[in-house]
Amino acid sequence: MRRIAVLGGHGKTGRAVVAALNDRGARAVPLGRADQADLAGALDGCDAVYVIAPNLHPDEPEHVADAVVAAQIAGVPRLVYHSVASPYVPAMPHHLGKAESEDVVRRSGLAWTILQPGAYLQNLDLTAPVRVPYDVHAAFGFLDLADLGAAAATVLLDDGHVGATYELATRVATVAGLAAEAGVTAERVDDPGTHPWLSAMFAYYDRHGLPVGTLPLRSLLGRNPA
Ligand SMILES: NC(=O)c1ccc[n+]([C@@H]2O[C@H](COP(=O)([O-])OP(=O)(O)OC[C@H]3O[C@@H](n4cnc5c(N)ncnc54)[C@H](OP(=O)(O)O)[C@@H]3O)[C@@H](O)[C@H]2O)c1
Repeated sequence: MRRIAVLGGHGKTGRAVVAALNDRGARAVPLGRADQADLAGALDGCDAVYVIAPNLHPDEPEHVADAVVAAQIAGVPRLVYHSVASPYVPAMPHHLGKAESEDVVRRSGLAWTILQPGAYLQNLDLTAPVRVPYDVHAAFGFLDLADLGAAAATVLLDDGHVGATYELATRVATVAGLAAEAGVTAERVDDPGTHPWLSAMFAYYDRHGLPVGTLPLRSLLGRNPA
């Protein structure tokens, strides 16, 4: 049975990846903060590692570099990095952190793959009026977390994905469109200003949305996304 470590495996993203790996008959090993002290030890005996950095990590390239070194020490040959759609956007600092992390991964000498997910559909609560601090008519490539899990399991368990970078979206939509389908209203509100990087992201979303193509995901899953 293939043993796959999932860094950040207890979080929202990680749980979707762990569930999909287990569905495919692999043995997923979710790792979190407590495993960070001896990451190489935690990775021992794993065939591959899926690297998810915590949200808004102040130094994501260093966090990813630590994961790369741990994989090298543990002799784990395969690494898949969970990046973001449009990582190279100078106006969004946390996207730039992922662009730099992609470079770390590409220079690691490991057999790598990079996934570039769009905003998760599950970020929106469509059971109540939707209020977001950006233009509700801006276009996004939204990603369903179950589709993300299935795509991650595919690149981790199947051949042909080493050296590949895939952007992932289930569907292109606007917040106003999704809200209308769900029968609720959508409204743009002021940015609450909780974190400067989030404010920068909302300002970018407000002007440009975050469009992402849907064909790579369809191709990876061999079916229409969820
Ligand atoms: N939300 C989106 O739409 C979206 C879209 C594209 C990409 N992403 C990216 O997806 C990633 C994960 O997001 P998420 O919402 O799944 O995160 P999350 O639910 O907050 O999960 C965070 C995970 O990281 C671990 N963690 C937290 N701080 C840590 C630290 N200092 N050192 C090591 N591990 C630490 C946590 O470990 P414990 O189990 O110990 O708590 C947990 O397993 C982020 O990088 C985000 O940018 C998100």
